[in-house]
Order: sequence, then structure tokens, then C-alpha cells
Amino acid sequence: MTKDNTCYITTPIYYVNDVPHIGHAYTTVAADVLTRYWRLRGREVFFLTGLDEHGQKVQQAAAKAGIDPQAHCDKLAPQFETLWKKLNVSNNAFIRTTDPEHKSIVQQYLNKLYDKKLIYKDSYTGWYCTFDERFWTEKDVESGLCPDCKRPVEKLSEHNYFFKMGQYQDRLIEHIKTHPDFIRPESRRNEVLGFLQNQKLGDLSISRPKSRLSWGIELPFDHDYVTYVWFDALVNYMSALEYLPREKPIGNRFWPANVHLVGKDILTTHAVYWSTMLMALNLSLPETIFAHGWWTVDGEKMSKSRGNVVDPNKMVDEFGADAFRYFLLREVPFGQDGDFSLTGMVTRINSDLANGLGNLLSRTLTLIERTQAGQIPAPGQIGPAERELEQATVSLLNEVLPRYLAQLEFNRALEAIWHVVQLANQYVDKTAPWTLAKNASDAETLRTVLYTMAETLRCLSLAAYPVIPNSAQSICSQLGISAEFTSPLLNDKIEWSGLKPGTLIHKGPSLFPRIESKPGARPVTESSVPSQPTAAPAPTLTDTPAPPTPPQITIDEFTKIQLKTAKVLSAERVPKSEKLIKLHVSLGAEQRQIVAGIGKKYEPDTLVGKTIVIVANLKPAKLMGIESQGMVLAAGDADVRGLLTIQEEVDPGTKVK
Ligand code: MSP
Repeated sequence: MTKDNTCYITTPIYYVNDVPHIGHAYTTVAADVLTRYWRLRGREVFFLTGLDEHGQKVQQAAAKAGIDPQAHCDKLAPQFETLWKKLNVSNNAFIRTTDPEHKSIVQQYLNKLYDKKLIYKDSYTGWYCTFDERFWTEKDVESGLCPDCKRPVEKLSEHNYFFKMGQYQDRLIEHIKTHPDFIRPESRRNEVLGFLQNQKLGDLSISRPKSRLSWGIELPFDHDYVTYVWFDALVNYMSALEYLPREKPIGNRFWPANVHLVGKDILTTHAVYWSTMLMALNLSLPETIFAHGWWTVDGEKMSKSRGNVVDPNKMVDEFGADAFRYFLLREVPFGQDGDFSLTGMVTRINSDLANGLGNLLSRTLTLIERTQAGQIPAPGQIGPAERELEQATVSLLNEVLPRYLAQLEFNRALEAIWHVVQLANQYVDKTAPWTLAKNASDAETLRTVLYTMAETLRCLSLAAYPVIPNSAQSICSQLGISAEFTSPLLNDKIEWSGLKPGTLIHKGPSLFPRIESKPGARPVTESSVPSQPTAAPAPTLTDTPAPPTPPQITIDEFTKIQLKTAKVLSAERVPKSEKLIKLHVSLGAEQRQIVAGIGKKYEPDTLVGKTIVIVANLKPAKLMGIESQGMVLAAGDADVRGLLTIQEEVDPGTKVK
């Protein structure tokens, strides 16, 4: 097998100075999505993640905990491994830099470079930042503070071993220039290039005297020193290939890595230190180093001292692994910074997952259960509406998704998948299968519609599998098919009609239950988000006079008001209005435009697909110049508290009394 069919994907190895947070989960989930996608496309993927267990940060954390560094690492390592299992991360290997094999490979590399005279001993004086474990030059330091973490630096002079990094400067610039995909996104590539072109690249101190730091891999040629933690850590990408796979050695089949995923803060160490180390070792450079952005939390930097560190375990416990994975990759373009908030997450879950995909599955299965005795029907004659949905679905799988995922544009890939979800839901609204079910003469059309819905869902499960693997599996088993997602299902072009008529469906529990109460401004680190509506406070007896009773109306007067169910087809804000939303609703036989004052309470896209209740015979009126043909019913007084919705599958246009 050649490198053409293998794929090597890595995450950074995380410091074990604390428990995992959203930043760790972000990169690891992104790597898992790529891995699952390429496996579906038939590639043999090796996905590596692991832990960076040496260096000052870990030594300090262990000292603080009052235990030996190795015991400290052994205690924390399972927390990462458990989290990856919980998040459905399908890594092939988990490296720990305290593994004896890794240590010995680091020493072999050091010896190689030392023998080639690419490592030399020298004395060095500079400003040292203990927190960042690095020296700064005079011009970097301002007012005695580290330019990176703003902590005080101290002047230190010591003998160390240096790697002749500087001599690779021109070669590295050339490599970056001739390989546009080597550093991504492009803005980061330009930053690194700018830095390399505008200043002289120095040599890299790759040792630490044991007198200052003892927790590291001993230099093979000087027992008074340990290896600088970054030299040790970066080697993990090679050493893992040598000793972790069951079938060994596989290095020559997987190297160079296809993609090293890293956070923006550790791009230089990868793009410059690692690349020059590889050049010195005569090894090829990775194809791509992709630097993603950072998460802030409710608009603030995430930090322990602020107490706003997002715990991925809690997110999985409260929302489920798939919902959390979906949110991480849908919300923000990979490569840009993003903000995490519980409100944002709940909104996404409700609109895209519950109302979008979940609703499509549940209405499809309910209708098949009720009208086809639970069997996927054989489609009849197809028309333009079916053709349109079929084309959008097939092109999603064969063209759109491959294009976006090859570029690591996860958010656009998800947007494209959910565009098809929306098309499918609109198709259901337009074709109104519940109405077709009432007339025997529409039986064939009904079968065509239901087959189209089910087949779209089968294709959607393939498209969404890399991001929401559990749900994709559940869609398939509820449709009655066994999808082997570990086999290369996306290897060939996807053809429509994969679903066999006659297949017995197994309707299961709702894919993504709606989260009824929004957590509002509660901090994201609080332990629980209520998933049930909270009960109204008990009424209290007061001296306040009762409000005047509204005048009574007769039954005849009431029956003049025509209340009907309506399905929201689209919703958008009325420009320049905080409150007004323009809705297009279906009443079965007709469609209406209604302007409703619900914009402070709802985001337009959370309304699409909902069945609401309207006053259907209200005289049309204009609101901010836009005609409204009816009125939406909602609870509340001056402020809207909640819309009247219909829980069951009810045809749009049904009378409400
Ligand atoms: N041990 C080194 C990496 C060595 S790789 C050979 C390291 N570890 S780390 O645990 O401090 O950071 C790991 C990753 O978490 C980095 O990619 C970093 O960018 C990422 N993040 C830390 N905080 C983050 C956010 N708030 N948001 C997103 N990612 C963040 O560096």
C-alpha cells in the first residue's frame, strides 16, 4: 500500500498539568471527524493523540499536588482517555511521552543530530519566563514582563545545548512558499512567513540543566541535562508510528503526516521548530499544519482564575456527545476564534438537531408506521420536487462534502448538510403526506413521498456520520438498515435508491430531544442545565385586589374566531425591528404571510418547521409596511413568554377549538 491510500492525522499532545477542557476537546473532535470521514472514503487512517508529560508545567503541577511527577501523570492520564471514549473519539493510539519507547527514540534522534554536529554546547544569557519555560531576548521583554504571559521574567545565564535551527531559515521560507497548503489557514501562513522573512532565525536551546528542571528525558550525551520539553514532545509524531501500532513498523507507510492539527498558540513550535528538526533528520515535512482558533467563554478569555473553564464531560453528560461535537464544529469556522455560551449551544441543538434532523426522522417514521404498516414503501412516479431533493442530496455526498472537508471547512460542510435537512422538511410540508394519506387515490404519491423522505435520511446519515456518529447509526437502525460505518461506504459515488422497499423500520426514541428551558445568562460551568420546563411558582395570597374580570362573550361570538394550525415554512426578521418576525406559513391548502411580534423571544430559524396556532380570519393589516394575513397566538402579556405549538403531527390548516 502506498502513502496515497494512508492518512496520518494528529492532535497536539496535551500537558497533564490539569484536567481536559473545551480547547482539548475541540482539536480532538476535529481530528476525529476527519478520521471518520477519510475512513468512510476508504483511506487507512492512523489517528494519534496523547499526552505531553514532561517539562516544567507538569513538574510544577505535581509539586503542587505533593506527588511525584510520574504518579501525577498516571493519575491524570485516564481522565483524558475516558473523555475521548465518552466523546466517541476513534484514535488508533494514545501516546504518553513518559513511555520508555518514546524516551529512547528521542535519545536516538538527539544522538543523530549530535553526531552530525547539528547540536552544540554554548552559554546563554537571557530573560527567562518560568511559566512559559522559555528565554526571551532583551528586545522582547517590556518592563520586566514576559511578552507572552505578562508574568515577571528573570535574568538567567547558563550553559545549554543548542540545535542549529537558524541554518534552515532559507530552506524553510522556500518550503512554505512552494507549498501553499503547508501552513493553514492562509492568514497564519502569512504570519509565519512574515516572521521568518523579517528576522534572523536563531538556534534553539534543546536542553535544560537538571539543577533547574529534572523532569525530562536525559540527554544521551550529557547526564547533567534533560531535553527541552518541546523537542521531546514534537518527536511524538514520529515515535508513535514506531512503537504504538500493533503492526510494526508502519512509519514509512504513514509519514509524512497529512495533517497536524494545532491551536494557534503552538503554530510556531510546529511550523518552525518541528520543520527544521525534520530537515536536520532528513525526514519529509508534514503536508499540512492547521492552526485553529481559540474559544472564549461568554465573551471572556477562558481561565481557571475566572472560573469559566468549560468542562467537556459536563457538556456530554447534559447534551450528549453528538450535540456537543456538532456545536463545536458548526458554530465557528475552523481557524477563527469563537465564543462558547450555553444559550448558543441550546439554540443550535433545538433549531438544527431537534427541529431539523430529529423532526425529519420522527415525522418520516411516524408516517411510515401509520400508513405503510412500518415498511419502507416502493416509490411510484417521481416528479420535479423529488428530483430536486434527490439531486441536492446526491451532490451533497459526491461533491459538496468532499470539497469542504478536504479544506477542513467543517462549519460549511455542516451548513451544507443542514441545507438538505431544511429542503427535506420543506418538501414534506409542501407535499403534505398526512393529507395524501386520507385519499386512496393518492396512495402512490404518498409512497413516493415517504420513500423520498426515508432515502434522503439514509444519505444524510452518511453525510453527518463523521460529526454525529451515534445519531447516524441510530438513523440507520431506525430506518431498519444496518450501516457498517467502519467500512468504506463513501468510497464510490453515492447512488440514490439505496434503501430497499419492504424494509421494516424500527422507530426508536427521539434523536435529539428539545431542550425546553434556556439557561439564559447562567455561567457555562454550572453543573446542570434543566432539561425540563421549570414549574411556575405557587400562587401566593396577597391583599392586592383581583384584576377586573374581562367581559364575557357568547359561544356564538367565540365561534366567529377561526383558529387554525399552521406550519412555519420560513421566518425572517423585519428589518429595523427588534420585535417583528415575518413568517410564511402553510395552512395545507394555502400559504400565508404573517408578521408577529415575537422577535425578542425567538430567533427566526428556531421557528421553521413548527406547527403553531393562528387566528385565520383576522382582517389583514400592515405592520411596518408589511401585510400580515392573520395573527400568531402566544402566551404572555407585554412580553411574549411562549408560542402556542402543537405537540402531535397535525395537518396544517386543522381547526383549533
Ligand atoms: N503540550 C503542548 C503541545 C505539544 S504538541 C507536540 C501544549 N499543550 S496544551 O495542553 O497546553 O495545549 C493543547 C492545545 O489546547 C493547544 O493546541 C492549544 O491551542 C489548545 N487550547 C488551549 N486553550 C484553548 C482554547 N481556549 N480554545 C481552543 N483551544 C485551546 O500546548
